[in-house]
Amino acid sequence: MRVSKRVENLPPYLFVEISKKIAEKKARGEEVVSFGIGDPDIPTPSHIIESLCQAAHDPANHRYPESEGLPELRKTIATWYEKRFGVKLDSDKEVLPLIGSKEGIGHISFCFIDPGDIALVPDPGYPVYSVSTMLAGGTSFFLPLLEKNNFLPDLNAIPSDILNKAKLLWLNYPNNPTSAVADLSFFEKAVAFARQHGIPVCHDGPYSEVAYDGYKPVSFMQASGAKDIGVEFHSLSKSYNMTGWRIGMAVGNAEMINALMRIKSNLDSGIAQAIQQAAITALTGPQDCIQQHNDVYQKRRDLVVEMLNRIGLQARPPKASLYVWAKVPAGYNSKSFATELLDKVGVVVTPGTGYGPNGEGYIRLSLTIPDASLVKGLSRLSAWGAGKKL
Ligand SMILES: Cc1ncc(COP(=O)(O)O)c(C=O)c1O
Repeated sequence: MRVSKRVENLPPYLFVEISKKIAEKKARGEEVVSFGIGDPDIPTPSHIIESLCQAAHDPANHRYPESEGLPELRKTIATWYEKRFGVKLDSDKEVLPLIGSKEGIGHISFCFIDPGDIALVPDPGYPVYSVSTMLAGGTSFFLPLLEKNNFLPDLNAIPSDILNKAKLLWLNYPNNPTSAVADLSFFEKAVAFARQHGIPVCHDGPYSEVAYDGYKPVSFMQASGAKDIGVEFHSLSKSYNMTGWRIGMAVGNAEMINALMRIKSNLDSGIAQAIQQAAITALTGPQDCIQQHNDVYQKRRDLVVEMLNRIGLQARPPKASLYVWAKVPAGYNSKSFATELLDKVGVVVTPGTGYGPNGEGYIRLSLTIPDASLVKGLSRLSAWGAGKKL
């Protein structure tokens, strides 16, 4: 059977390769400690689960949901944005619930990218930006995120012939994988740049609630004029440990939201209503769980950063996100170092190059690892550092 060129050209999804390697090790009876995937290990808070259980019993929630989501959920999202960021949204036109933000990130390329068009995509970056560009027939022009620029893209360095063909600009802060953060002045500059060149912006911000040391990330939507030219993707996945439930949202420019809604309504039939009810509970209920989770991650962050520096990897404590972005030691590249750790001490880290060529020289460690495994993982890293053997 012949599959389409589109499918043939798909790169293997990053974590598929890592999972395969882990499975091989496990099959040989070896125990692996994984700092790989950014998937919260702490359960969803119980009041959210309770609300799902109740909603699941209601026959009104057993039928096809509306593609645009429950009006109560759209209103709740608008209220949350106003409370959290001071951003006012029209819940009918500027808010769209999603089956996880990944779904919207994948679909929005079909709204703005035609064959031959270009998307401006951060490198390193979440792989879905460039893959969805490719699926829509476009090409990614990668914007290097370099340490010397605090992992922010240099928008002024984009050649004018690229700008003429660019139909989307992707941004993501707090950033995966570098864990860099952006301040409001960067977002203001990005809005001015996007308006000057007429390029719609997609800001991906699922980590805005995962932050440390009292730091509060800003939203792209807080930049003045952001709504004229962009949308923001957000999610309940990381804020409320709901990755398995699949619920997120896009907010912002009404035309962009409408285009995304039109694509979505032809491809999916919305989000299970019981999950939408649970999302309302998450966004309106007690919020102390967020700080509790962040306290757990912050402790882990400090232990990881301390150990990495002790064994000769340079890593700075991130202000936000679930990741530590560390430089590999001299004599290694990203892949050889990740392979060394897996082979020698059974520790999984993600090679930076999995997120793009400018991830070379780095590895990413996720903090979503249970404490007991974290301790085991750190002692293995220590053993590697001491003698490069367990
Ligand atoms: C930068 C970024 N964007 C989007 C997502 C997708 O999140 P979800 O689809 O669970 O909302 C992830 C998940 O890891 C991510 O790291």
